[in-house]
Amino acid sequence: MSNHKIALVTGASRGIGREIARQLAELGQTVLLGSRDLGRVQAVAKELAEDGLDVTAIQLDVNDPESIRAAAKWVEAEHGRLDVLVNNAAIIPEGDTAVSEIAANVLRQAFETNVIGLVGVTQELLPLIRKAPGARIVNLSTSLASFTQVADPASRMSTVRTLGYNSSKAAANMVTVMLANELRGTDILVNAADPGNCATEMGGWDAPRTASQGAAVAVHLATVPADGPTAEVHTDTGRLPW
Ligand SMILES: NC(=O)c1ccc[n+]([C@@H]2O[C@H](COP(=O)([O-])OP(=O)(O)OC[C@H]3O[C@@H](n4cnc5c(N)ncnc54)[C@H](OP(=O)(O)O)[C@@H]3O)[C@@H](O)[C@H]2O)c1
Repeated sequence: MSNHKIALVTGASRGIGREIARQLAELGQTVLLGSRDLGRVQAVAKELAEDGLDVTAIQLDVNDPESIRAAAKWVEAEHGRLDVLVNNAAIIPEGDTAVSEIAANVLRQAFETNVIGLVGVTQELLPLIRKAPGARIVNLSTSLASFTQVADPASRMSTVRTLGYNSSKAAANMVTVMLANELRGTDILVNAADPGNCATEMGGWDAPRTASQGAAVAVHLATVPADGPTAEVHTDTGRLPW
């Protein structure tokens, strides 16, 4: 099998996902850009392709099992394996708020996309990931999912009252660790990437970091060598406590 890598990035139509896709493609990987809206992500893929990058847009709604299944079937037919999966798609649902106030349906929406969607995509693609030599899985995390930071009253993270986002991303961290454990003894490494506060639709346009800066840590973890970490969360300055 050649050294050429096939990567899939979920939620690649904008923000950090789009930059992860760009950076992986700049490393020479063939990158599949997923989005709920095929037209939107086709426009992004066209722009990246104009820069000479090898990219393809695919319809992939992480909340829709049929969409996930169709995407996996397409990857199998087209490429027969998947070397890199970056689970980037996530939401902060409208109405996300404190524990004392949050509506059940808002909490449910966060878990649907950020946990159940992530697990659904990963499960469906795992057979293709197992077929790739030395595959890498990266799940996007956040300081708002860090027990260490959220429990520290001196940290800004302790003041943010978005239970849906924080708790679903903390659950996604557990998915990362448990999948890494399940895959110990294989050559597949599974890690979480904290991009820091980046200027995107989700992060707010006045955030201090660019989406491209935030993407770099995910790209690093997606390309670590065989003796690289597994079951860890990293930011671009190194390993973080959970
Ligand atoms: N920005 C920050 O400061 C920051 C900080 C820490 C962590 N993060 C994490 O970094 C990742 C990217 O964040 P971002 O700031 O780039 O967010 P964003 O600008 O809101 O982009 C989110 C992406 O997710 C996609 N998405 C949402 N629901 C989806 C679904 N059901 N199926 C497929 N795709 C879906 C959206 O694409 P479509 O609408 O086209 O489907 C979009 O491309 C997220 O996991 C986020 O939690 C961000």
